[in-house]
Amino acid sequence: MQAENKGLNIYSDTVVRQFSIMAVVWGVVGMLVGVIIAAQLVWPELNLGLPWVSFGRLRPLHTNAVIFAFGGSTLFATSYYVVQRTCQTALFMPKLAAFTFWGWQLVILAAAISLPLGYTSGKEYAELEWPIDLLIAVVWVSYAIVFFGTVGTRKIRHIYVANWFFGAFIIAVALLHIVNSAAIPVSFMKSYSAYAGVQDAMVQWWYGHNAVGFFLTAGFLGIMYYFVPKQAERPVYSYSLSIVHFWALIFTYMWAGPHHLHYTALPDWTQSLGMVFSLILLAPSWGGMINGMMTMSGAWHKLRTDPILRFMIVSLSFYGMSTFEGPMMAIKTVNSLSHYTDWTIGHVHSGALGWVGLVSMGSLYFMVPKLFGQKQMHSIKAIEWHFWLATIGIVLYIASLWISGVMEGLMWRAINTDGTLTYTFVESVKAKHPYYLIRLLGGTLYLSGMLIMLWNVLKTASNGRPAMASIPPVAAHA
Ligand code: HEM
Ligand code: HEM
Repeated sequence: MQAENKGLNIYSDTVVRQFSIMAVVWGVVGMLVGVIIAAQLVWPELNLGLPWVSFGRLRPLHTNAVIFAFGGSTLFATSYYVVQRTCQTALFMPKLAAFTFWGWQLVILAAAISLPLGYTSGKEYAELEWPIDLLIAVVWVSYAIVFFGTVGTRKIRHIYVANWFFGAFIIAVALLHIVNSAAIPVSFMKSYSAYAGVQDAMVQWWYGHNAVGFFLTAGFLGIMYYFVPKQAERPVYSYSLSIVHFWALIFTYMWAGPHHLHYTALPDWTQSLGMVFSLILLAPSWGGMINGMMTMSGAWHKLRTDPILRFMIVSLSFYGMSTFEGPMMAIKTVNSLSHYTDWTIGHVHSGALGWVGLVSMGSLYFMVPKLFGQKQMHSIKAIEWHFWLATIGIVLYIASLWISGVMEGLMWRAINTDGTLTYTFVESVKAKHPYYLIRLLGGTLYLSGMLIMLWNVLKTASNGRPAMASIPPVAAHA
């Protein structure tokens, strides 16, 4: 492993191994917290009357753990793996890459302590207080230096499209984080946003939507563009489409944020602009989804025997589904029904569990054996089990919340002939109870799949040894 840092012809994979293992560990932790808060919504007594484990504090812990710890570690691992293979060179500044690993774990630890203690800036997906925000900015800029430095020192002229997506994700997240986190500190763990009123809301949802667009989408599209062709052993369906997909997606995402603020004090034209751009977003999203799916041309039969490929392709189906649903929910009249309801939570998890979760698992299953010098994962049967538990879990999760979301939306707007409300709010809460139970069941299945994955990954790692993969001669294929 020492050879990595000494300019020998070996990829810098230590950091890839570390991020891969931690992705799985944080996945288990984040999803466990998800299952706990899902259970709290069924049985509120599980809040235990303690502030530290109350729903209000565990919910941001869940979102931060799954998005930034699980998703983030997956993105670091895959981008470092892919950029080296497609540029045929080792990581630029491997020590700085090691710093990004330890720095990112420190951010996660700080989040895991400060959120249950109740420290929060109150901005969704950007709850962490200013000292942690500063650490995030330092780690992220280091990440950008390592990634772009590696691209800059590449041994082949061409920059493969996956790196375009990873690069856009890294730049956009830096911009979003720094602008949205601008705040005036008043004490060690308390600050106030630099923006006020509706401007604050607009900046927050420009951030929030693009966190979805770049953190949860562009980065994972980078994963798709490398790992789907690799696992299917087919070239990407259309390279030209991937370039159109890239520019159209990153341009359009930036404008769609106001769909989170329909019917608010935000000027009406801004809301309409957000709605129109969200509808346009369907085209590049589906362009990308089709490009991934069509890469399977001539390889569909592999789905019968290859559970890793199944993770990737089912993930793309959920990507297609959630990016059809999103634009529909952005239409103001539809949003007047869906907003504040469980429909939104169902939409979130069809993207999060279906797209982000499954493509992460697929790419980790691809990388882990190679990183530990094994031909394949310890147990293929276990991957099969994981796939079915996850898929059934997602279906239970999202179908139950669609029903409960539309039901509660309709109950809130039902009016008697004399103009009074047909249902009290409490009646709508009671009606959701069975669906919350089904969601809990779905989440538990999804978590059990993840536990199987943890066992399988640890077994594979302990059966093998950290592999020193050599960089092939320049003319060879990545
Ligand atoms: C075992 C799996 C999971 C379970 C049981 C679960 C459960 C939950 C629950 C109960 C909530 C709160 C819903 C509410 O406030 O009504 C929630 C919110 C959320 N979860 Fe999960 N979750 C899981 C996995 C994930 C994953 C893997 C991701 C992302 C990659 C994710 C992202 C989110 C986000 C973004 C929210 C906030 C949604 C919003 O504010 O609209 N979850 N989750
Ligand atoms: C074309 C793509 C998409 C569009 C136009 C879109 C649109 C929307 C809309 C209209 C909402 C509801 C806003 C509200 O009523 O407050 C929403 C919520 C959300 N969507 Fe999407 N969506 C898209 C794709 C995705 C994907 C792929 C994911 C996950 C990977 C995702 C994650 C979320 C999250 C986390 C929220 C909840 C935000 C919050 O209130 O906390 N979306 N989306």
